[in-house]
Amino acid sequence: MGRKMCVVGASGKLGRHLVRHALERGYEVVGVCREKSVPKLAEFEGRIMVIPGATNDRAVIARAVSGCDAVLTVLVPWGMNHLATGTAQAVLDHAPGARLVFSCGWHITRDGKDVYPWTFKLYAAVFTRLAKLIRLVDVDDQVEACERVFASDTRWTVVRGSDLEDGESQGLPVWSRHVGDPILASNRTRRVDYARFMVEAVENDALVHEAPAIVGRLTPSALAYADRQP
Ligand SMILES: NC(=O)c1ccc[n+]([C@@H]2O[C@H](COP(=O)([O-])OP(=O)(O)OC[C@H]3O[C@@H](n4cnc5c(N)ncnc54)[C@H](OP(=O)(O)O)[C@@H]3O)[C@@H](O)[C@H]2O)c1
Repeated sequence: MGRKMCVVGASGKLGRHLVRHALERGYEVVGVCREKSVPKLAEFEGRIMVIPGATNDRAVIARAVSGCDAVLTVLVPWGMNHLATGTAQAVLDHAPGARLVFSCGWHITRDGKDVYPWTFKLYAAVFTRLAKLIRLVDVDDQVEACERVFASDTRWTVVRGSDLEDGESQGLPVWSRHVGDPILASNRTRRVDYARFMVEAVENDALVHEAPAIVGRLTPSALAYADRQP
């Protein structure tokens, strides 16, 4: 199979982990990030191609994904300009034949069968309204972005992250189709492992058209219910 991967949103914490994993697995890597964030990719100088620009700039994405077999996209809804939707749509339009893996949070639901703890629902409701009020983050934009991915004919996977933390790897996260399944109860994943799950998903056909909700494999709930992974 081909070995060229594009990381859209390469300069963020998750993005840099994605680049590291992709390089370790032997991929040729193209990274997209805002011009001002290019210095954050200095550790990869000479090892990846960096295309500076907004991730929702269609010309930037067209150039970046050209010839790529896989595109990993960090979907973030910063601001009120539909950044996440624009980014997802640009990737869907310009890399229709590639393996596509997108990141988002547990709040995204594919089939409406997720069961959220009341604490999660309360936090999400307050955060969503407050963030929109101060025009910082538009959670509805990420929802719309994922709806478009779910409706597309591409070979997509939408990886839904739990609360994240930094730290050493605990191995490949475990997953479930629905939030509310006991295996996910610990609600904690290391970023480094989130990235590994996304990179490994590229070569895992069982994850095509799935929206796995993930949790760290050494968390108490993962250890207790390990046999319940799909
Ligand atoms: N944080 C959590 O607890 C959590 C939980 C579940 C899922 N997730 C998912 O994980 C993914 C990564 O999230 P993260 O929290 O770990 O953040 P992150 O990896 O640090 O990524 C943040 C991204 O947003 C970009 N960004 C920041 N400010 C921006 C702005 N004003 N305009 C445009 N782009 C901007 C960053 O680019 P620059 O480098 O250019 O700043 C970077 O690509 C997201 O898809 C998120 O939905 C996060």
